[in-house]
Amino acid sequence: VSLLARSIDGILEASVVGSFSSLGYRARRALSDWEQLPADCMRGRNIVLTGATSGLGLVAAREFLRLGARLTILARNAAKAEATCSELSQSVSGATVDYLSADMGQLGDVERAGMTLLARYERVDVLIHNAGALDRTYGVTREGIEQTIATHVVGPYMLTSMLLPVLGRPRGTVDARDARILWVSSGGMYSEPLDVDSLEMKQAEYDGVKAYAKAKRAQVTLNEMMASAFADSGIRVHAMHPGWADTPGVARSLPTFRKLTGPLLRTPEQGADTLVWLAASAGMPIAENGKFWLDRQVRSIHKLPSTRKSDTPEARAALWAWVEERASVSIPSMRPPPVA
Ligand SMILES: NC(=O)c1ccc[n+]([C@@H]2O[C@H](COP(=O)([O-])OP(=O)(O)OC[C@H]3O[C@@H](n4cnc5c(N)ncnc54)[C@H](OP(=O)(O)O)[C@@H]3O)[C@@H](O)[C@H]2O)c1
Repeated sequence: VSLLARSIDGILEASVVGSFSSLGYRARRALSDWEQLPADCMRGRNIVLTGATSGLGLVAAREFLRLGARLTILARNAAKAEATCSELSQSVSGATVDYLSADMGQLGDVERAGMTLLARYERVDVLIHNAGALDRTYGVTREGIEQTIATHVVGPYMLTSMLLPVLGRPRGTVDARDARILWVSSGGMYSEPLDVDSLEMKQAEYDGVKAYAKAKRAQVTLNEMMASAFADSGIRVHAMHPGWADTPGVARSLPTFRKLTGPLLRTPEQGADTLVWLAASAGMPIAENGKFWLDRQVRSIHKLPSTRKSDTPEARAALWAWVEERASVSIPSMRPPPVA
């Protein structure tokens, strides 16, 4: 990356709007020598992707199939998933795609899907936690967990823990086909500190935007923790954020924001570009681990001193203990190294 590209990237990053909008995507793409993913580079790889019935997940799914991957999508709406699979099969010749029904917040669903995947695959190459929504109304899952945190954090944690046996490689081995776990987080998390005591919001205080930002903060923190916990098994773990992309999710949850930013929003393809690259590239996504990305570059998970201050080893240990408890999953090999 040239000095000019780095300087412009820095200006965009500082401006936020420039960075998150399509301007950021287009400027970085024009100024950097982005790798073109080779045709067929995902041939033979098994991808498990949540939230592929709409928006970013849908365009990423199409791209993975074009690159030759075998795809299983996890979806909460079976009719929509069925339609998505047939649309994808028609638009990509030779596509291998199917779906499993699971609401990512319902742990019973997640467990069933995890068992099916374990029975089906000897190996999962890429697991992508993309399903998500900014829900304005409060809800709880069948297990009694607030739905935003359940969908973005507890369900994904549980699925990850179940699939570890088919994701990992023998200890200490590393190669370009290393398995990857990817989180689709959000720049919305920059405003929220890491505060485990308020992670699961109560009905009386519920605010959808806040609950969403808290869940996305937890995701980027777990991303780093999982990366260090799994490093020896040859699993790469990364998180990214898509910027602001015009998807059905944004139209539904943030109509005023969408109206105001309209022409500046990214296309879903632009928003999903880094996700596809993290899943497919044999370069930086393998050389690095536990990073947070936007437009194919590593970004800090903090922009504010207050959130940085909240991110202590103790808060991280509390997050891990909390999610273990809520998911009722405790796998010693998943634990990050103890707090020093
Ligand atoms: N678009 C943006 O600008 C933006 C910015 C930052 C982060 N993100 C993140 O990007 C991801 C994709 O969002 P999007 O913008 O593409 O939104 P979208 O168009 O609404 O797509 C979201 C997908 O997630 C699925 N989903 C939501 N809740 C689920 C649950 N409980 N269980 C299973 N599936 C569930 C949806 O299923 P249904 O089709 O059944 O609704 C849909 O397939 C989300 O994690 C979102 O937070 C997006």
